[in-house]
Amino acid sequence: MKVLVTGGSGLVGKYITADLAESHHVEILDLKKPHREDFGFHPVDLLDYPAVERALPDCDVVVHLAGIPHPLSDPAGRVFRTNVMATLNILEACADRGIRRFIFLSSESTLGLAFSSSVMWPLYIPIDEQHPVRPEDPYGLSKLVGELLCKSYAQRYGIQTICLRPPWIWVPEAEEIRRYRDLIAEYSKWSKNLWAYIHVADVANAIRCCIESAELPVHDCYFITAAETWTEVESRSLVSKYFPRTTTIAADFSGRDSLISWKKAHEAFAFTPQHTWREIVRS
Ligand SMILES: NC(=O)c1ccc[n+]([C@@H]2O[C@H](COP(=O)([O-])OP(=O)(O)OC[C@H]3O[C@@H](n4cnc5c(N)ncnc54)[C@H](O)[C@@H]3O)[C@@H](O)[C@H]2O)c1
Repeated sequence: MKVLVTGGSGLVGKYITADLAESHHVEILDLKKPHREDFGFHPVDLLDYPAVERALPDCDVVVHLAGIPHPLSDPAGRVFRTNVMATLNILEACADRGIRRFIFLSSESTLGLAFSSSVMWPLYIPIDEQHPVRPEDPYGLSKLVGELLCKSYAQRYGIQTICLRPPWIWVPEAEEIRRYRDLIAEYSKWSKNLWAYIHVADVANAIRCCIESAELPVHDCYFITAAETWTEVESRSLVSKYFPRTTTIAADFSGRDSLISWKKAHEAFAFTPQHTWREIVRS
């Protein structure tokens, strides 16, 4: 298939495009040049709609990764406007061009816990797609609006829009590995993150499963995560110590299980996490 990856030159995009290129024709739309020279490259600012419309190549599916990946370095308006308007513009261009499939890398931040200022706790464990979403930061809000845009374009134009909600995506890059090692030692400070992560190879795997599945609905949202947390601590102990108000816990929740469920993605497109943080931290 011919796949256009927006944001394919970024940290996560570098791995996703390399993986997809093994079985598909990949092109990249981004502000900055890709890591590899062998991909077709469309240098476009997604905030400039006429430029997006002109540059969008014919393709079977768009994988939309472009955006600002957290709310910590940029002003709120820039994060929200960039992520929301980039998603709106690429969806609008897809509708105009008759592109029928769209995969949006949303985020677990739609839940609201990760960047919350008020005290929040999971209403039940493991968290699934029925759990309320309560973002109060510009990044989580921008991803939730992105999901709504996907739903709206699916409804209006019949474009299939699949939203994936990964938590923190771990990558085997030297600088990142140093951060992961530090945070593993300081796990008690990371309750808002739910000690959740996903190996970038499993994100690539999920995207490939979605591209290749013929069974998916016209629109839906799925959490994708590693099977376990990135701590050495039992997950029930983490919940009772850091979220004592969370008392609804599934009977089969055990060991170092992720506090976020990946079951719906497994049932929909056979997503199964196959990698762990140990492979990255050891490397
Ligand atoms: N990194 C994570 O842990 C994580 C977790 C969950 C979801 N995500 C999502 O995954 C995606 C990729 O994240 P990342 O960590 O690779 O971020 P990144 O900043 O490394 O990459 C984002 C890419 O988007 C491009 N981009 C930004 N604004 C653009 C614009 N206006 N027009 C065209 N291109 C533009 C950038 O040039 C960059 O190459 C983001 O949507 C992010 O929200 C990331």
